[in-house]
Amino acid sequence: MIDKTEITICLGSSCFARGNKKTVQAIETYLKEHNLKDKVFFHGGHCFGMCNKGPILKINDKFYEAVDHINVIDILAKEIEE
Ligand code: FES
Repeated sequence: MIDKTEITICLGSSCFARGNKKTVQAIETYLKEHNLKDKVFFHGGHCFGMCNKGPILKINDKFYEAVDHINVIDILAKEIEE
């Protein structure tokens, strides 16, 4: 069995308002285009308590700070094995 990559996007009000709303769409599109939906568990999370460093994205145990809908593509390419 292959372990899924877990992606948690912060949907707390600060991160959501500052760009994660758009980043959700970018991730959805990326996973679809790269046929990764079965390999990834993508879901939203509550505030991680790091709002000042946000928008926050968590992949497995790693936190990414200041994520936007552009730089998230490089992060996904690096983190998810196709
Ligand atoms: S709202 Fe995202 S870390 Fe607080």
